[in-house]
Amino acid sequence: MAKGLNMKQYSKILGTGSYLPPRVMSNQDFEKMIETSDEWIVSRSGIRNRHFVDHTEGLVDIIEVAARRAIEASGISISDIDGIIVGTTSGDYVFPSAACDLQARLGITNTCAAFDIQAACSGFIYALSVADKFMQAGAMRYVLVIGGEVISNYINWEDRTTSVLFGDGAGAVVLGLSDEAGILSTHIHADGRYRDLLYAKHNWKETGKTISRPFIVMEGKEVFKVAVNTLNDMVEEALVANNLEKSDIDWLVPHQANLRIIAATAKKLDLPMERVIVTVEEQGNTSAGSIPLALDEGVRDGRIKRGELLLLEAFGGGFTWGSALIRY
Ligand code: ACO
Repeated sequence: MAKGLNMKQYSKILGTGSYLPPRVMSNQDFEKMIETSDEWIVSRSGIRNRHFVDHTEGLVDIIEVAARRAIEASGISISDIDGIIVGTTSGDYVFPSAACDLQARLGITNTCAAFDIQAACSGFIYALSVADKFMQAGAMRYVLVIGGEVISNYINWEDRTTSVLFGDGAGAVVLGLSDEAGILSTHIHADGRYRDLLYAKHNWKETGKTISRPFIVMEGKEVFKVAVNTLNDMVEEALVANNLEKSDIDWLVPHQANLRIIAATAKKLDLPMERVIVTVEEQGNTSAGSIPLALDEGVRDGRIKRGELLLLEAFGGGFTWGSALIRY
């Protein structure tokens, strides 16, 4: 058989990048605005600080920085990119997509497909899964996959049950087809029956005129319960699909909504917290941005090494959820 014929090719992470806006808001800053306390926020969520854009930055500004950093780390040239997929719920425009805007910003003129995926906090895992399928089908070779949010656009600053939990930020990966192992599996799911537990809804008058911006509404306790149970099932699903054991996993790179949810998943995996990339304390919940932000942190500070097995998992509004098992 000729070399390469019928050889399995994987979507491999060639490079990662991320960006956090410089403006930081601490729990103490919230104490001055609403009836809350550092002690309550830390004990319930683990969060101490979060970053927010100021009025000079929009979504495409922040995903562009993350994208350029990932491209630089990947070693490919911008013109090699033949697909752009952005997981986000907070694009600057209703249309065009953030991906199209980014394509123009990066100067990519090869007319490659560019589109956004909206799956709330699971947006990056959904985007990664779709990219992997396109690549496995032979339709794309080098794909820029991004998760990013300016979720502050949807924060109700007077609602203490949600405002303290979120932050802005973006992360990116460049995937390239490779003979070396890369993405081993992705699983994505949704159950729209839970849509009322976590949402941000356009408010329309009968005339069809917008009367106020959408803001996040969440039944935190209910979300918490479903999230923990679902994440446990998800871990099982990913391991069984790959005939792997819990002990094979080197790093858990979870969506960063709440330290207690992350700890529960790590416990299910029998993983010590030292093997979990945790950013929630300093970033809050950056929705679709949180997993690629955590991944980039783990890669750049040297904790995550080539050849190691990573489990990425997310849960969010929809409900949506999903996982990716990756040989880095
Ligand atoms: N400061 C002080 N007190 C507060 C605050 C606050 N910021 N927020 C709520 N409280 C109060 C409540 O009013 C309540 O008071 P009461 O008992 O007098 O009514 C009390 O604290 C307890 O509130 P609970 O909601 O029961 O607190 P809980 O322990 O459930 O923690 C939390 C809340 C942190 C939101 C938790 O439920 C959670 O993390 N849920 C999951 C969130 C999540 O995972 N989201 C993921 C997806 S996000 C996305 O997709 C965009």
